[in-house]
Amino acid sequence: MKKAKLILDKDYTVSKIDPRVYGSFIEHLGRAVYTGIYEPEHPLADELGFRRDVIDLVKTLNVPVVRYPGGNFVSGFKWEDSIGPVKDRPARLDLAWKTTEPNAVGMHEFCEWAKRAGTSVMYAVNLGTRGPAEARDCVEYANHRGGSYWSDLRIRNGAKDPFDIKLWCLGNEMDGPWQMGSKTAYEYGRVANEAAKMMKWTDDTIECVACGSSSSQMPTFGEWEYRMLDECYDNIDYVSLHRYYGNPHNDTPDFLASTLDLEDFIRTVASICDAVKGKKHSKKQVNLSLDEWNVWYHSNQQDQQLHERKPWGSALPLLEDVYNFEDALLVGLILITILKNADRVKVACMAQLVNVIAPIMTRAGGGAWAQTIFYPMMQASVYGRGVSLLPKLTCDRSDTKHFTDVPVVDAAAVMSEEDGSVTIFAVNRDLEEPAELACDLRSFGDLRVISHSVLHHDDMKAVNTEANPGEVKPADIAPEKDASAIILPAASWNVIRLAK
Ligand code: AHR
Repeated sequence: MKKAKLILDKDYTVSKIDPRVYGSFIEHLGRAVYTGIYEPEHPLADELGFRRDVIDLVKTLNVPVVRYPGGNFVSGFKWEDSIGPVKDRPARLDLAWKTTEPNAVGMHEFCEWAKRAGTSVMYAVNLGTRGPAEARDCVEYANHRGGSYWSDLRIRNGAKDPFDIKLWCLGNEMDGPWQMGSKTAYEYGRVANEAAKMMKWTDDTIECVACGSSSSQMPTFGEWEYRMLDECYDNIDYVSLHRYYGNPHNDTPDFLASTLDLEDFIRTVASICDAVKGKKHSKKQVNLSLDEWNVWYHSNQQDQQLHERKPWGSALPLLEDVYNFEDALLVGLILITILKNADRVKVACMAQLVNVIAPIMTRAGGGAWAQTIFYPMMQASVYGRGVSLLPKLTCDRSDTKHFTDVPVVDAAAVMSEEDGSVTIFAVNRDLEEPAELACDLRSFGDLRVISHSVLHHDDMKAVNTEANPGEVKPADIAPEKDASAIILPAASWNVIRLAK
């Protein structure tokens, strides 16, 4: 049996958790929109063509914010194509994914879908092939109450009330050579600064996210953040981080250690923000938006072949990763890492939400089901609201191919502000042995374990399918009598709830 000890004290906190860390992402890519959230011919479609079964799953996932409409797609997108009568909207070639975008779902439809799904919109503007002027027009269209060209057009297009979108991405992955209109850090920093200024002059209640590096593996990582922030620090609120992991060589211990890399990425970007703050003698703190994260590698080969066979199609099955049990463990570990860094990570979006590297899958004309990764995301969003406690964790450690001193157990703890109850999220990374987690709850008094949910499967590669959607899902086990000896089964994600 492995050993771990977790000390929690209600006076030692990381930060209040911003609910937006449980965000998600829908891009006009593959079947995310068409036959994902929208399929008018489906028997469960509502009067606007949105799949009710998908809306139900999104509600269960408890997603507070959804980034939209891209992604790489946004860097060639004209937002004006997506408004007005659908029959008049142009079909456009999307150079990012080599597909054709029919624009049948646009800004009005997506904002309505978000309302029906109980979520809010984080909208990305195109700073690749377009610039600050089109971005501020978009804010005026979406958020201005009326009496101006763009806001009156919105009203004529059927939306009397503004969409009131509060969170805006200033482009997407502008450091990446694959991006339409990619830029140097200086070029981007200048454009982001001017765009943010004009967007905020249009609506001073919005917040803006500047593009950080598209991954910590980019050769320009670090320098990109410093140089672009030097240009736009005063006018932006968050820097984005994007990070995907995979297990292509089937080295599961190394794969499950990937969150050490994520931790490092987060702390490095936070440090660079603070370095620029210092250089500028600024009083303002820029925080982080981890607005693309997930496991992504299963579908790579299939996507390559599909593109060769069907360029410029619509609603192609792209990036349809089928997630297995070990992916769900890594997703749990990523959520734990986000909670442990709640002082700086204020927004985070699992990428993506439906069909495209997603927790929710659909079949056109058929069912909708939850992939393995759905469950840790759902449990974190439901139970992980409140204050993130400083998890003082000591445990056995080991080395993997790329990481040293990997803790066998990782954990985060959240205290509810409503009733003082505590939820511990813990993963046992050991594939063979259970771990005993001894919780020292100090100032909490007589908290006792009221429930213990475990996500475990004997087969690390087990998946959920339409025919067998419940193969991998959490199960409640008998709660331990004593928090000083909680057993985390080998290879497991655990949600332990404690209350008086
Ligand atoms: O989420 C899929 C793609 O990954 C996004 O379009 C892009 O921003 C990232 O490279």
